[in-house]
Amino acid sequence: MHMRGDGAGNGTGRRIPAKITGVAGYAPPRVMTNRDLEKLVDTNDEWIRTRTGIRERHVADKGVAASHLATEAAKRVLAQTGTDPEEIEMIVVASVTPDMMFPATACLVQERLGAKGAWGFDLSAACSGFVYALTVGAQFVGAGSHRKVLAIGSDVMTSILDYQDRATCVLFGDGAGAALLEPAGDAKEGILDFTHDIDGSGGPCLYMPGGGSLHPPTQETVEKRMHYVHQDGGQVFKYAVRRMAELAEGLLERNGYTKDDLALVVPHQANLRIIRAMQERLGLDDSKVMVNIDRYGNTTAGTIPLGLCDAVTQGRLHKGDLVMLVSVGAGYTSGGVLLRWAY
Ligand SMILES: CC(C)(COP(=O)(O)OP(=O)(O)OC[C@H]1O[C@@H](n2cnc3c(N)ncnc32)[C@H](O)[C@@H]1OP(=O)(O)O)[C@@H](O)C(=O)NCCC(=O)NCCS
Repeated sequence: MHMRGDGAGNGTGRRIPAKITGVAGYAPPRVMTNRDLEKLVDTNDEWIRTRTGIRERHVADKGVAASHLATEAAKRVLAQTGTDPEEIEMIVVASVTPDMMFPATACLVQERLGAKGAWGFDLSAACSGFVYALTVGAQFVGAGSHRKVLAIGSDVMTSILDYQDRATCVLFGDGAGAALLEPAGDAKEGILDFTHDIDGSGGPCLYMPGGGSLHPPTQETVEKRMHYVHQDGGQVFKYAVRRMAELAEGLLERNGYTKDDLALVVPHQANLRIIRAMQERLGLDDSKVMVNIDRYGNTTAGTIPLGLCDAVTQGRLHKGDLVMLVSVGAGYTSGGVLLRWAY
C-alpha cells in the first residue's frame, strides 16, 4: 500500500502547510570507536570503515533509555526556538527501543519536559520512524487543530545488539533528534509533499523476534538470543538503495522538480555504501548529500534529525532551500518528505 500526500492536506481543500521551525539532536557522551569494538568482537577498524563508513558511534550508559535521549533533544529544540514546554500540544515519538512496552515513551517525555498541555503517542517504523513522525505531526498542524507539535526519533540500539553478531553490532549507535512543527505562512514553505509505503514481505529480513506477544521473554528466548536485532544484511542493502532512490525520484517528479533543484538530501544513515549507491542512481554530487554516519553509525529513528541538525550547524541549510528526507527501515517501512527549509 502506497500513501501520498500534499504536505499537510486537511481534506477540505484548505491547506495549512506545516514547517520545521527548529531541529536538535542529542547523542549520549560516551563514544565507542571501531578500535573499541575490536576488543569485543572479531572485527577491525579497516573492515568497518570500508564496508560501512562508520568510525565511531555513541553509546548510552546503563540506565539511560530512549526517553532520556528524546527529552534532551526536545529540550534543545525548545531552547533554540524559545518555546515554553507548556505551549507544546502534541508529542510523537518514533522508536523501536522504547524504555518499556508501555507506557508510551511520549508520556515519559511529556512528564520530563513539563509539557502539561500535550497529548501524544509512540509510533514504530524503525529507521523510517522520524519521517513518519514528521508526516503524522504535519497532519495535525495541517488540520488547523494544533500549532506546536514535537516530532521525535530516539533509539538506544545498543540495548538490542548482539555483540556476538559482528555483521550487525558494528553498524548501530544511540541517538535522538527532535523537530518542532508549526504552521507555515504560505504554501511555498515547509513540508511540500510526502510519500510513504510499507512492504511486509521484508519482515524476515530485519527484526527482533523476542520480547513481544509472539515470543514473550523466557529463559529459552534469552538463551536463543531472540532479544537482539536479526538481519539479512545483503537483502536490506539492496532494498534500501532501490527504494530510497525510487521515492526521491518520484517525489521530485510529481512536484515538477529535478535533482538540480535540490539543495540537500538528508538520507537515513545505515551504511555509507547504501547512501553513495542511492546518490549515484539520483546523479547527485557529494555536496548535495548529508553524511554523518562516520560519527554516529545507524541510530535508527535518530539519523535524519541528527543529520538535519548537523547540516544546520555546518551552514548547509538555508531558508528557501529544497530539501529531501528519505529512509527505509525494518518492516519494510519507507518514507520521503520534500520540504522548503523555513529558517
Ligand atoms: C551488514 C553489511 C555491512 C555486510 O556488508 P557486506 O559487504 O555485504 O559483507 P558480507 O556480509 O558479504 O560479508 C563479507 C565478509 O565480511 C565478514 N564480516 C562481516 N562483518 C564483519 C565485521 N564486522 N568485521 C569483519 N568482517 C566482517 C563476513 O563474515 C564475510 O566473511 P566471509 O567472506 O569470510 O564469509 C551490509 O550488508 C549492510 O550494511 N547491509 C545493510 C544493513 C542495514 O543497514 N541494516 C539496517 C537498515 S535500516
